[in-house]
Amino acid sequence: MKRMEFQNRLSRFTITMLFTCACTAFAQSTITVSADQPGKPVAKTMWGIFFEDINFGADGGLYAELVKNRSFEFDEPMMGWSPILSADSDGKTDIVVKQPFNENNPHCLRMSASRGQPFGIENEGFRGMGIRQGQSYWFSVYARHIGPGAMSLKTKVVGAGAQSIMEGTIENISGDWKNYTCKMEANATDAKCKLNVFLGSFGSVDLDMVSLFPAETAQMKDRPIPGLRSDLVTILADLKPGFLRFPGGCIVEGMTLSNRYEWKNTIGDINERKTIINRWNKEFRHRLTPDYFQSYGLGFYEYFLLCEQIGAEPMPIINCGMACQFNTGQTVAVDKLAPFVQDTLDLIEFANGSADSQWGGVRARMGHPEPFNMKMLGVGNEQWGPQYVERYKVFAKALKEKYPQIQLIAATGSDPAIFPNGPNEVEYLWGEWRKLDPDIVDEHFYRPADWFFKNSARYDSYDRKGPKLFVGEYAAISGSVGSPQNKNNLGCALAEAAFMIGLERNADIVSMSSYAPLFAHVDAWQWTPDLIWFDNLNVFGTPNYYVQKLFSTNRGDSVLPTSILDQDKTLYASAVRAGKQIILKVVNASAEDVTTDIDLKGIQAVNYAGGLVLSGSPRDENSLTEPTKVVPVKAEPYNVAGPKFTYLFKPYSMTVLQLEVE
Ligand code: AHR
Repeated sequence: MKRMEFQNRLSRFTITMLFTCACTAFAQSTITVSADQPGKPVAKTMWGIFFEDINFGADGGLYAELVKNRSFEFDEPMMGWSPILSADSDGKTDIVVKQPFNENNPHCLRMSASRGQPFGIENEGFRGMGIRQGQSYWFSVYARHIGPGAMSLKTKVVGAGAQSIMEGTIENISGDWKNYTCKMEANATDAKCKLNVFLGSFGSVDLDMVSLFPAETAQMKDRPIPGLRSDLVTILADLKPGFLRFPGGCIVEGMTLSNRYEWKNTIGDINERKTIINRWNKEFRHRLTPDYFQSYGLGFYEYFLLCEQIGAEPMPIINCGMACQFNTGQTVAVDKLAPFVQDTLDLIEFANGSADSQWGGVRARMGHPEPFNMKMLGVGNEQWGPQYVERYKVFAKALKEKYPQIQLIAATGSDPAIFPNGPNEVEYLWGEWRKLDPDIVDEHFYRPADWFFKNSARYDSYDRKGPKLFVGEYAAISGSVGSPQNKNNLGCALAEAAFMIGLERNADIVSMSSYAPLFAHVDAWQWTPDLIWFDNLNVFGTPNYYVQKLFSTNRGDSVLPTSILDQDKTLYASAVRAGKQIILKVVNASAEDVTTDIDLKGIQAVNYAGGLVLSGSPRDENSLTEPTKVVPVKAEPYNVAGPKFTYLFKPYSMTVLQLEVE
């Protein structure tokens, strides 16, 4: 059955319905923290990020390439390109497959003209190209001249009004495939630029891998990440994420097995990485995106580098021989799984093997002789049913035999509210996982905000002896799953915060969690809500992003038992110890100030070290025009006299209090 049909079944909730409790003005509550207890450890991986190439997350987003369909390998090879033809020109373009550039990249573009004004082609970029004044850009192309002598090319980036923003020239193009580059500096800033490439004279030339890149892409520590958009890497790094899950999501599974994610196709020379359709291209009728493909410029090597740069544990998810069960649900016969299993064993060697192993050697030749030290791996994305369990068993046996130290993550399907027979399926899968004992079990929730409030205590009753939990995808929705109505507003963010307080309080069994999806391009999204939004030049975090950040940058080492006396049940609280500090996180979901007595039991002296508050109206959102409407601000400096003090929590707020204790 199709995902859309599930979506339609879901009820719609509005934010106003979330905060239905009858609240007393200036309600009085008590929070007690057993600060003298050792506390349960909070895993370093507790707050992580989930990356998927959905909503132009990779191509058109994190991957800084500005040219769409640079290799002419989209299903319609001219998609994104158009000829620039003057009246007297006989210029034409042909897609040529003879003498291909390479086998994985068989199509190239032939431009020919014999009379008239210079003939050219234009690339529209990913809903335009974002260019910044004063910054340099590399134009790069593989080209060969057809015919005697040499050819030249003129390249120009034009703004939304067709004005020239930067220009360059490529000279002496000979008859063999060669790479030619030129550097240009922009004289203006424009988010909707286009790239023009003109023949320098009459004749024919073949082009492939036509590329335009900012000269400066993300560079942190001592190693540049090849070609990632700096502002998007920075906003991720600011989260100090415990792990990075990649490459998804349903993209791992593919609509059919033929367009599943195969990591080996995403490494090595970018010219030889085979472009394939992005499964989100036509998933949603409400947001068809026919120009969405995967160039794999951002591939597994880059994902591992990104993890290293932002200090996140890598968490690859592999296809376990099943296509997306919301689509075709194709499966590979259990006795034919060997190549899939081998690919996974090879992935572990690629990540962790020595430079003289086969796949470790590939990594070393790409520039990273040291292993990436990968510790965990997901077998399948949102798989369900007995067919998943039988495939999981095959993978687990082979992987654990060779790499017992690699932690395996098993799924419990999609959100139980949206996949066939969800709750029963989840129960069935949990039954199997209790027998098979994977290291970690992954649960997903895309639910209305009130579900998140109500489920803050969800994990209190989970079996402490079973596998650890990974809440691998969740987001509070204000419409139906993935629908355009969903808003990334403060109301939803606070609901997630209340749920995360529950995750933190259960840190002894919940070892990882991540909001999903991560990124969305304002002009090219398919799914809402999303944690971070961007256009071709700007990026902003949603209130949900700031909730994630308040947790991840105040993680602490151990979680302290905390109890609440709150007549109106609108307060949610947890406390962690972080070195000499106790960090208290409190969500006030009511429309009123809540004056609260706080008691840090077992502590003598306490000093206020700082605090942050995220608050506003539940409907408040950030946007490109108001990117910081809802952001944490410093709490008023507060005179904490001792282990017992009174604090006023603002309406609709999340507060983090950092308390220095002895
Ligand atoms: O986060 C968007 C999608 O939701 C993911 O690809 C999938 O795993 C889930 O259904």
